[in-house]
Amino acid sequence: MSPLLQEQTEAVRARVLVRPLQQADLEAADRVLRTAFGTFLGVPDPMLVFGDADYVYSRFSAEPRWAFAAELEGEVVGSNFATRWGSYGFFGPLTVRPDLWDAGIGSRLMQPVMDLFDTWEVRQAGLFTFPHSAKHAGLYQKFGFWPQYLTPVMSKGPGRDGSEAEYSTYSSTPDGEQDGVIASCRGLTSAIFDGLDLTHEIRATEAQSLGDTVLLHSEAGVAAFAVCHCRAGEAGSDTCYIKFGAVRPGPDAGAVFEDLVGACENLANRSGAGRIVAGVNTARHDAYRRLLDLGYRTTLQGVALQRPNELGYCRPDVYVIDDLR
Ligand SMILES: CC(C)(COP(=O)(O)OP(=O)(O)OC[C@H]1O[C@@H](n2cnc3c(N)ncnc32)[C@H](O)[C@@H]1OP(=O)(O)O)[C@@H](O)C(=O)NCCC(=O)NCCS
Repeated sequence: MSPLLQEQTEAVRARVLVRPLQQADLEAADRVLRTAFGTFLGVPDPMLVFGDADYVYSRFSAEPRWAFAAELEGEVVGSNFATRWGSYGFFGPLTVRPDLWDAGIGSRLMQPVMDLFDTWEVRQAGLFTFPHSAKHAGLYQKFGFWPQYLTPVMSKGPGRDGSEAEYSTYSSTPDGEQDGVIASCRGLTSAIFDGLDLTHEIRATEAQSLGDTVLLHSEAGVAAFAVCHCRAGEAGSDTCYIKFGAVRPGPDAGAVFEDLVGACENLANRSGAGRIVAGVNTARHDAYRRLLDLGYRTTLQGVALQRPNELGYCRPDVYVIDDLR
C-alpha cells in the first residue's frame, strides 16, 4: 500500500464509529448490503442482487441487540449481524460500502460480534463465505475462523410433492403444546451438538410470519424439524428456503432426512413457491448426497469457516440442513 493510501486508510479507520444498528438505519444498511454483494459478485445492477430476499429487516426484527452498524460522517457504511443458536454462534451478512473496502471497517464490525460470542460462551462459531476469495479467508482467519468444507446452496424447481410422510407444523401446534415441541427440538439438536438450540429461529419465523417449522414426530418426540422461510424473509417471494433442518441421530436418520425434505417440499408447494432452496455442508456427506439424489442442484457454493477449527456438527453422521448465510 502506498504511503498516501495508508494515510487515507488510517484516517477512515479513525473516523468510523461502530455502534448498535437501529430501526432508522435499516434502509441504508439494506442498500449497503445489496451494493456490496452485487459489486463483489459482478451483478450489472448491484441493487438487484438477491431479488426481494431480505437479510436486514427480518434479522434486525428477530433480535436488534445482535445487529451492528458502521457509521462514517453520519452515514451507515456497513453492518454485521450475529446469531445465537444456543451453544453455537454465527455471523453475517457482513458488508461494507464498496468505495470504503480495505480500510479496516469490516474488521471493526467483527469486534462487537466477537464480544457477543465471548459473552454467550458459545462452544463454537462459524460463518459462510466465498471459497475463491483470499481476502475473505484472510479477514476471518485474523479472528480465529478457519476454512473447512464447502457448503453448496442447492435448489430444486417445483414438482411433485415430496414423500408422503406425515408431518405437522409449529404454527398449527396448539398454544399449550408449543413449549413442549420447542423443548423436544432442543433435545434433538443437543443430541447432535451439545447445547445447539434453534428456539430463536423457530419463534422468530413464527412471530414475523416468515414461514413455518415442519415437524416430523416419533414416539420419542420430534424426530426431525425444519425451519422454513416461505415466500418471505430470506426466501424472497418465489422461494421456500430451508433455513435450518435437523434429524434426530439414529439408524434411520438418512431415511427420515428424505422424509423431512419431502415435507418441506409439500410446504413449498402448498405455499405456491416456485422453488425450494437448501444448503448443506459437504462434511455431512450422506445428507449432501441424498439432496443430490433427490434432484437438488448447486446454485451458489460457499465454504464454512469455524472457530475453533473443529468439525462441530459438520460431521458425516449428521443430517442437518443449514448454510449459515
Ligand atoms: C468482505 C468485506 C466485508 C470486508 O470489509 P473491508 O472493510 O474491506 O475489510 P477490512 O479492510 O477490515 O479487512 C480486510 C482484510 O483482508 C485481508 N486481506 C486482503 N487481501 C488479502 C489476501 N489476498 N490474503 C489474505 N488476506 C487478505 C487484509 O489483510 C485485511 O486485513 P488487515 O487490514 O488487518 O490487513 C467487504 O469487502 C464486503 O462488503 N464485501 C462484499 C460483501 C461480502 O463479501 N461480505 C462478506 C460475506 S462472508
